Amino acid sequence: MKNKDDIFKKVISHAKEYGFIFQSSEIYDGLSAVYDYAQYGAELKNNIRSYWWKAMVQMNENIVGIDAAIFMHPTTWKASGHVDAFNDPLIDNKDSKKRYRADVLIEDYAEKLNQKAEKEIAKAAKRFGDSFDREQFVSTHPRVIKYLAEKEDVLKRMALALDNENLADVKALIEELGIACPVSGSKNWTDVKQFNLMFGTKLGASADSAMDLYLRPETAQGIFVNFSNVQKTGRMKIPFGIAQTGKAFRNEIVARQFIFRMREFEQMEMQFFVRPGEEIKWYDHWKEKRLNWHLSLGLGKEKYRFHDHEKLAHYANAAADIEFDFPFGFKELEGIHSRTDFDLKAHEEHSGKKLQYFDHEVNKSYVPYVVETSIGLDRMFLAVFSTALQDEKLEDGSERVVLKLPSVLAPVKASVLPLVKKDGLPEIAREILDSLKYDFNVNYDEKDAIGRRYRRQDAIGTPFCITVDHETKEDGTVTIRHRDSMEQKRVKISDLRSIIHEEVSVGNWLKNV
Ligand code: GAP
Repeated sequence: MKNKDDIFKKVISHAKEYGFIFQSSEIYDGLSAVYDYAQYGAELKNNIRSYWWKAMVQMNENIVGIDAAIFMHPTTWKASGHVDAFNDPLIDNKDSKKRYRADVLIEDYAEKLNQKAEKEIAKAAKRFGDSFDREQFVSTHPRVIKYLAEKEDVLKRMALALDNENLADVKALIEELGIACPVSGSKNWTDVKQFNLMFGTKLGASADSAMDLYLRPETAQGIFVNFSNVQKTGRMKIPFGIAQTGKAFRNEIVARQFIFRMREFEQMEMQFFVRPGEEIKWYDHWKEKRLNWHLSLGLGKEKYRFHDHEKLAHYANAAADIEFDFPFGFKELEGIHSRTDFDLKAHEEHSGKKLQYFDHEVNKSYVPYVVETSIGLDRMFLAVFSTALQDEKLEDGSERVVLKLPSVLAPVKASVLPLVKKDGLPEIAREILDSLKYDFNVNYDEKDAIGRRYRRQDAIGTPFCITVDHETKEDGTVTIRHRDSMEQKRVKISDLRSIIHEEVSVGNWLKNV
């Protein structure tokens, strides 16, 4: 049994070795927290995006999709609050000159306390076996109680200090807890300062007339500023949604954990505009709908949990994360936020334009309330990829590495393999490839023994391998091997399309949502 660190390392190395994800500009030693999606990664990412788009936009009559620009008028970010408040508290270690997020240093400390408690719990679980009652143990064991209480205290104190913008107290807490720099080991810290996460850039050629712009830190604002355009041209009636997918940029201070926290990433967001007073009903609706979308992929119910926010952003009246069990533990995958009328009102104030809706049913105009669903495409990629990657022991004692991706998302749906490189088999295989490529992403491989070719397809998650052999020439049949069961069946070439379609069609998968 591998530990979590090893599993995560394996995920990263597999993603590179099999052409899913490369470090950006690797030949120049890379750019930190920026990644390129390679030949199979780009396909997998596109498939996740399409699966989301189909479920959110095309399956809902009252949701439309847009594609707003990354550059937006700079006042957008003043109105949204990002210029003034999209900050992280940072602290430098004077000896190592390394920069950290002060809240992350404290959260890491709290996590260590949590791990100490978990260690005690695991030890007891082993000792007591089936009769172990976790809840009872956690509430009665003195050391576990102490660790967990200390963890809660630390997190509460930090939240209070951050809420009150009391950065001196954040530093005091780091000093009191004796947190040392992981690089230098020293406790020689600077004061804590706020650091804005937006990337600035300039529009225009001459230095005096150039306009300061930001790369968007979220896609949502492109939807808010287009609210009236879309509502009027689409004759949308409340409740309705506007969705989009696209790049977002954040100058993360602590960017780590591979594609979990990147500086350039992609979001898939939907803003649902509702009548004021009905937002909580819709918030509950979208929480359920979004979880069902995740569950439809079959990664396992136990991999997800909701984390309802107790502390809400100033514009929200309810918020929850869907957390996923990544190789480094449960972390935020998607956010569902009831954002009130904060954004539309702020844009009305800053633009001087009305962003209202006339509701014929109640015969009045109002600024709609908004329920948002916001998921990181890269995080979704990591969730799917890390869960799918499995080392499997086979009956004959050998091992295989298999990427058990939901077949609807698999980069390649079928690989066509002539058993040998002669006797006319490659020609038949290419004919099959040509007939399938209009409907599916398929590939062709004739190099190496058939077993090795199967393993190569297993490692990139291809659900089907189609083998052309001498019998094919006689009766027009091939063998089709399924990635997960490794079972092989003889089928007619003319049935291949429908067999593959049945297993990979988005429609079939989305029926479970
Ligand atoms: N419009 C709301 C919004 O942007 P958020 O919680 O800041 O909310 C939404 O981001 C989602 O975007 C997160 O749940 C996460 O999946 C993804 N995300 C945020 N920052 C990210 C980063 N630096 N790298 C990768 N994904 C990120």
